[in-house]
Amino acid sequence: MTGKFITVEGIEGVGKTTNMEYLQQLIMAAGKELVVTREPGGTPLGEAIRTLLLDPAYKGMDPDCELQLMFAARAEHLDKVIKPTIEAGRWVLCDRFTDATYAYQGGGRGLDMEKIAILEQLVQGDFRPDLTLLLDVPVEVGLARAGNRSAPDRFEQEQVEFFERVRRAYLEMAATHNDRYRVIDASQPLENVQRQLDTVIKTIL
Ligand code: TMP
Repeated sequence: MTGKFITVEGIEGVGKTTNMEYLQQLIMAAGKELVVTREPGGTPLGEAIRTLLLDPAYKGMDPDCELQLMFAARAEHLDKVIKPTIEAGRWVLCDRFTDATYAYQGGGRGLDMEKIAILEQLVQGDFRPDLTLLLDVPVEVGLARAGNRSAPDRFEQEQVEFFERVRRAYLEMAATHNDRYRVIDASQPLENVQRQLDTVIKTIL
């Protein structure tokens, strides 16, 4: 039997790290073997591409270059980690995936969604996550939380309007793909967010 592929999405400051840890505990407590990974990254080559993508030295990177680097890292990640793990019957919990490309490069940078869909088809064929959890908070809440961290990376240096477009794109995708998307209100106290995650994970276990 193949494993499940679960992705976690959201703008900066939604509490992805804390909630990924909680999801990991839930899935492992149910006896599933789990690999936790992230994008961009998840392989040595992908992490090297991530370093290029996040480096503020490349401020002003051409959006098409950014888009193709995201998919280049993703191709390696699918080949070396995601697909072999799922085929071996284990589960994969991934911090961001292609929905982030639609949200950030499509919504944020304004690239044509059709162009992204062509690359998605090229790199993934029909492969999609089984479940996508969108951790949602208003942009000002997310940015206030994220702002307390260390030096901002190339994406974190973007303006509020950029993240408004990213959030809007995520919410639109969640409405369109409501078969695999679940929106979690992450502005609630942690206990409440965890209760929402319990409910969703139960449906897939
Ligand atoms: P992270 O800091 O949440 O790990 O993600 C790194 C940044 O990369 C984050 O600001 C979102 C961005 N990103 C994209 O713009 N497109 C993508 O396809 C992915 C996976 C991430």
